[in-house]
Amino acid sequence: MTILVTGGLGFIGTNFILGHLAAGGDRVVNLDLATYAGNYGNLAHLPPEKHLFVRGDVCDRGLADRLLAEHRPRAVAHLAAESHVDRSITGPESFVRTNILGTFTLLEATRAHWEGLPEPERAGFRFLYVSTDEVYGSLEPDAPPFTELSPCLPNSPYSASKAAGDHLARSYFRTYGLPVLVTHCSNNYGPYQFPEKFIPLMIINALAEKPLPVYGDGRQVRDWIHVEDHVRALSLVLDRGVPGETYNAGGLAECANIEVLGRICSILDLARPRQGGARHMDLAVHVTDRPGHDRRYAIDSAKLESELGFRPQYSFPDGLAATVEWYRTNPAWVESVTSGEYREWMRRQYRQEG
Ligand code: NAD
Ligand code: TYD
Repeated sequence: MTILVTGGLGFIGTNFILGHLAAGGDRVVNLDLATYAGNYGNLAHLPPEKHLFVRGDVCDRGLADRLLAEHRPRAVAHLAAESHVDRSITGPESFVRTNILGTFTLLEATRAHWEGLPEPERAGFRFLYVSTDEVYGSLEPDAPPFTELSPCLPNSPYSASKAAGDHLARSYFRTYGLPVLVTHCSNNYGPYQFPEKFIPLMIINALAEKPLPVYGDGRQVRDWIHVEDHVRALSLVLDRGVPGETYNAGGLAECANIEVLGRICSILDLARPRQGGARHMDLAVHVTDRPGHDRRYAIDSAKLESELGFRPQYSFPDGLAATVEWYRTNPAWVESVTSGEYREWMRRQYRQEG
């Protein structure tokens, strides 16, 4: 048996494939464009009979048709996306292309393939669309967490493009009966996350004694989930979720950015004290806020818990400590992903720090 994963060279895709294979899962065909965010080195050690990497674009209909016909996967797990909010603000077009047109293309190819499948393959087939809590927009400080019934109110080009994917996925279930599952997860952290995102960026900058850029007042709240908990949730939904349903996954760990940074700095103060008794937190600088910055996200995972038995296994303090340690002890990985393109992005995005 085979599953087709898109975006498998990225942060969550890598962890999903590693978790899936470690649990004895079936062979993976991994369709990924290997953009700046994808790193083949993450999975290069996997044997070819377990993992086949195909470099390609999810907008390429012919390629999707060929992969589905050739490998006859029992499921598609669609993770490929442009995923960084700041990049969506400076350049939204690739988000519309990959996240909307790419999702549409994959849905169309999958529908054509699925309609031609004999039973029982057809009944057992699944299409998992991995979405985000950001489609729900921003929560007031005292509002209850997002549920699957919260209105879709995206605020950034990233979240709007992911929401468009949600709507397309839903429509393919309602209109064509394609067995689609949708997940909305909160902010992930853990190994292999590209260091443009908050937690790895702060760890790596702190280790390099560089400024730690905090947007605005740093009081924005995110609900942090360890990526290994997220990929466990994805496997549960893929294996036992009900087609047409949506499942929210959160980490039970709401925390303001400035507090997350304080925790990272305290861990580093112990693990790698700075010279002269200085604190890592002294490197923090408040910079201009992100336009349209969502103030708070929080996820209610009660449905996933009651229907599929999901509970995050990492506490935020333990998961964060393990994550800091991973980046501290894997400088070669950091060096390998921080290409010239990444350095140019950092120069443009954080020019206010010089
Ligand atoms: P990522 O940016 O680390 O990885 C994205 C991957 O998609 C990369 O390997 C990239 O090469 C690939 N890709 C990009 N455009 C492509 C294209 N046109 N064709 C084929 N491959 C392409 O992202 P991530 O953090 O791993 O997120 C994975 C998925 O999970 C995304 O759909 C994202 O919206 C969703 N998600 C992420 C988070 C989070 O906190 N990171 C939370 C909830 C949901
Ligand atoms: P990010 O990791 O980009 O995820 P998202 O925007 O999808 O939630 O950012 C997490 C939070 O950290 C968000 O409130 C923006 C903030 N942030 C900073 O304060 N400084 C930074 O340099 C970055 C990248 C993010």
